[in-house]
Formats: sequence, structure tokens, C-alpha cells
Amino acid sequence: MASSSVQQRPWLLLLISVVLLPAAASVVFDVNYAPTWGADGYHLVDLGTEVRLTMDRSSGAGFGSRLSYGSGFFRMRIRVPGGYTPGVVTAFYVASDSASGNQDEVDLEFLGDVDGKPVTLQTNVFVGGHGEREQRLHLWFDPAADFHDYSVLWNPYQLVVFVDETPIRVLRNLTGSVPDYEFPAKPTRVRASLWDGSSWATDGGRTRVDWSRGPYTVAFRGFGVDACANTSATPCGSTDLWWNARRYRRLSVRQQAAYQNVRDTYMNYDYCADRDRFKNRKMPAECSYN
Ligand SMILES: *[C@@H]1O[C@H](CO)[C@@H](O)[C@H](O)[C@H]1NC(C)=O
Ligand SMILES: *[C@@H]1O[C@H](CO)[C@@H](O)[C@H](O)[C@H]1NC(C)=O
Repeated sequence: MASSSVQQRPWLLLLISVVLLPAAASVVFDVNYAPTWGADGYHLVDLGTEVRLTMDRSSGAGFGSRLSYGSGFFRMRIRVPGGYTPGVVTAFYVASDSASGNQDEVDLEFLGDVDGKPVTLQTNVFVGGHGEREQRLHLWFDPAADFHDYSVLWNPYQLVVFVDETPIRVLRNLTGSVPDYEFPAKPTRVRASLWDGSSWATDGGRTRVDWSRGPYTVAFRGFGVDACANTSATPCGSTDLWWNARRYRRLSVRQQAAYQNVRDTYMNYDYCADRDRFKNRKMPAECSYN
């Protein structure tokens, strides 16, 4: 009898719409985020429901969440710089605070390229300051043409990077059962930036940023945060938090198939497949458990 209860209690309608409408899209930047660098009003502009970072010869820019989080489903809608963009790096990442270089971190980095060459999405995972876990792929769409959802699910069971609804990277948490297995554990902030990666990002640093074609601009939307603040009363591993629920503990059969398709069709570098790189070193433990 849902309709009659709404008639008797009109506030119920309000409550239902508040709970069900996608609120994240309309949350303004300042609620959860603050500029971290390049905040001179030119490099970080339009602080509302959309934020743009620009980069020219003088500076790039970045912002980060006000709080640190112990688990969550971190999302951002992003439209990366278009056109001629070698050396231009857009980063969306979650990383712990760390002055001593022992941070835990999950990166999505969009590496620009010359006209006609697709942007590369590179992901990496750091544990205790140690990365060297790059994966690279070309997306199945042009990320400069429109906004898309990029997200990182991080809970006690797995870490999954999604592009829209598609998983592109998965790291299961097997720390309890596999020796030397590394899984990010430190409370993390959500961060984003636009910066000059001329020394490495495109053709291994051979094609650099062309400042005469700048400024370069990236746009972000979606400043709601679905995550467990490290200061919250609820333990961040609690199964009451929706991103810790059963359906977020493993990929579904459908997600597994979509992930496999990404690996087969779009991925062009995977550190776990780079035998030369680990010729004289042990391959990281997670490479045996993908
Ligand atoms: C918890 O978050 C606050 C605010 O972001 C931060 O200052 C503090 O260092 C965090 N604590 C831990 C253990 O990370
Ligand atoms: C990973 O799993 C271990 C063992 O179950 C658990 O103790 C740890 O808290 C988990 N890591 C995170 C970040 O939740």
C-alpha cells in the first residue's frame, strides 16, 4: 500500500526522492574537496558542481578530499584535455598521506598523445611506497569527447578500478592467505591533478608538452563521496556499508567476462606479463593470483 501511505504522509515522497535521486552529481566541490596546489583562480576554476583544472607553462593544478577514508567506492566524472596533448597527464587517484614515501596509492593516469593517437590510461598500485605495477590500455571511446565515470572500489575483499560500469583492474585482498601479498591498507584521500609528465608520459618522454598549444584543460564532476571517513564511528570494514556488501566482494560472472574482454582487447601493457622487467627479481605475489 505504498501509494496510500504517500497520500497520508506527503513528506514520505520527499524522503523517497532525497534517498533515491543520484545526489552525488549535484554536490558542490567545497563540501568534500579543497584545492591542494595551483589554486590561483586561473588554474583551478569554476568551483561548483564542475571543476576545471588548467595547465600552462607556469603551473598545473590539483585538489584533494578534505577527509581520509578507510574504505569506499570513489568516483569522479572526468573529461580529459583533447587535441594535441603529449606529456599532459590527468590523474585521478586515491593515496594515503605520506611525507616519508611509504604511501599506499591507486592511480589512474590519462597520458595525452599527438592528434590521431589515443589517450593511454595507465593504472598503478603502490603499497608502502612501492609501485612498479603499471597496466596500460587504450579506451573503447575518446575520453576527451565527453564525461565518463572512473572509480575505485576499495574494501576489505578487493580493489577494483572501473571505467563506467566496466572493471579494468582487479586486486583481490589475499593478505591473510598468501605470503608476501601486498594490498593497500592505509587511510586514503581522493585526489586529482593535471600536470606536466613530459619526462615520461608519451613515447617514454620523447614527445613533450607543447606549451604553444596550451593551456590544457580537464573537467571534473561528481563531488559526492561514498566512503568511510577514517574518523567515523562505524568501522570501515563493517558489512553495513554498502560497498562492503556481498555483491562488492567479488566480480559477478558478467563483470568477470567484461574484465577479461578488456584484458584481451584493450590492454597493451601489464607488469605481470613483463618477464624482462622481473628477470632478476621476484614477480610480485599478486601476479600468480589474477
Ligand atoms: C584521518 O583523517 C584525518 C583528516 O583527513 C587525518 O588528518 C589523519 O591523519 C587521518 N588518520 C589516519 C590514521 O590516517
Ligand atoms: C585484507 O584482508 C585481511 C585478512 O582478511 C584483513 O585483515 C585486512 O584488514 C584487509 N585489508 C583491508 C584494507 O581491509
